[in-house]
Amino acid sequence: MKYHRVGEIKKDEFLGKDIKIRGWVYRIRKQKDKAFLIIRDDRGGIIQCVLPSTIVPDITIESSLEIQGTLFKDERAKDGGYEIRGNDIKIHSIASNDFPIGEYQSTELLLDYRHLALRTRKMIGVGKIRATILEKVRNWFIENDWIEVNVPTLVKSAVEGGSTLFPVKYFKEEAFLSQSAQLYLEALIFSLGPVWTVSPSFRAEKSRTLRHLAEYLHLEAEAPWISLDDLFSIQEKLLVNLIGHVIKERKEELGFLNRDIPSLTEIKEPFDKLSYTEAIETLSSMDIQIQDDEGTRKIKWGDDLNIDSEKALTKDRTNPVFVYGYPLEVKPFYVKEDPETPGLALTTDLLLPNGFGEVSSGGMREDNITLLKSRIEKEGLKMNSYSWYLDLRKYGSVPHGGFGIGIERLVRWITNLEDIKECVLFPRTMARLDP
Ligand code: 4AD
Ligand code: MG
Repeated sequence: MKYHRVGEIKKDEFLGKDIKIRGWVYRIRKQKDKAFLIIRDDRGGIIQCVLPSTIVPDITIESSLEIQGTLFKDERAKDGGYEIRGNDIKIHSIASNDFPIGEYQSTELLLDYRHLALRTRKMIGVGKIRATILEKVRNWFIENDWIEVNVPTLVKSAVEGGSTLFPVKYFKEEAFLSQSAQLYLEALIFSLGPVWTVSPSFRAEKSRTLRHLAEYLHLEAEAPWISLDDLFSIQEKLLVNLIGHVIKERKEELGFLNRDIPSLTEIKEPFDKLSYTEAIETLSSMDIQIQDDEGTRKIKWGDDLNIDSEKALTKDRTNPVFVYGYPLEVKPFYVKEDPETPGLALTTDLLLPNGFGEVSSGGMREDNITLLKSRIEKEGLKMNSYSWYLDLRKYGSVPHGGFGIGIERLVRWITNLEDIKECVLFPRTMARLDP
């Protein structure tokens, strides 16, 4: 007899049918003549099984087993009103009786035992929502004629500034873990056209925040012959499409995580666009403070937007907003200067609503070799580390641009989970390398 997953059999057409499931004991209650076992299968499906106590041996939470029986409807049964009345049980392995994950556990303990906490409904939901996002991202890019590529994560030079680089010993040289695939994607647009990748990016983030990881999954896209306006509309379309699919296919998981779905449904293109200068005016009128070497002071033109600024700019919004036209100085060496407004960069960050903040950064890239060289020099970077990158401007340079979206940031917003560590299966932070 074939095994079924719980998700497939919770349907009236299976009522009265003989079925066999396998999984793990999620909850257990034994009475004199009946034993009630709630079983979780390997897709997180949960169902109550009622068996005669005489055939149920002493078992513990998380023991693995299989049960054969008949499907019945019982309104008292949790999770859909179906239950299996079992007539046979086979134990695969009795779990040690000290399973550390219970109902009331500290966040730290859940992180220490993440390899086991992955069996909780929260983490099962996160795992499935991540999978759906990645599946729909790939579909969207295929449908819109972008080519998927893969590039190295062991690299020789910085993309996003030296302070968050992870050094690694690479034979006799020093190498780094990649912060972004962008420079490689830029090389690929000359022969593959619009390209995209999902790859791990690494940042040696020394601060503990609810939105930074040391290793995260980075969705990056790059295309030739495009403009900043194109970058707005590509990201709007991609995001609206993704949200639509996740709402439709992961309703149950979002519901379990208490995500307010109507506010996701409201997201519509076009998103608002706010210039950096307007953003700073708004923030100074709100008296937003920033930290610098001299201490805390009021935010002013020329400062990068910090978490507080992003919160303030988005807390009353229900739709995402692009902030464009940052000062060149707060952005990396590769950004293109706006020929019409020198000093400003043709870049844009996408901020998500309700106080969430940045989910993507992108923009046009400096395609003029002389200007690019002077930016590399100004930033104090080693010119010879970028010689191949400079070649891209030497041999048929074209206007081009792209963007990078943090997958865990997106998951965090879609699920409304507070801590980004809950949005990845095995988080990496300064304090956590294991499991
Ligand atoms: O803003 P970032 O640093 O931009 C880049 O890396 C560009 N080279 C991307 C590109 O144009 N191809 O990173 C892009 C996004 C951020 O907006 C954020 O969503 C996410 O990556 N991100 C992080 N996510 C989790 N933990 C971190 N430490 C992150 N740093 C950036
Ligand atoms: Mg950024």
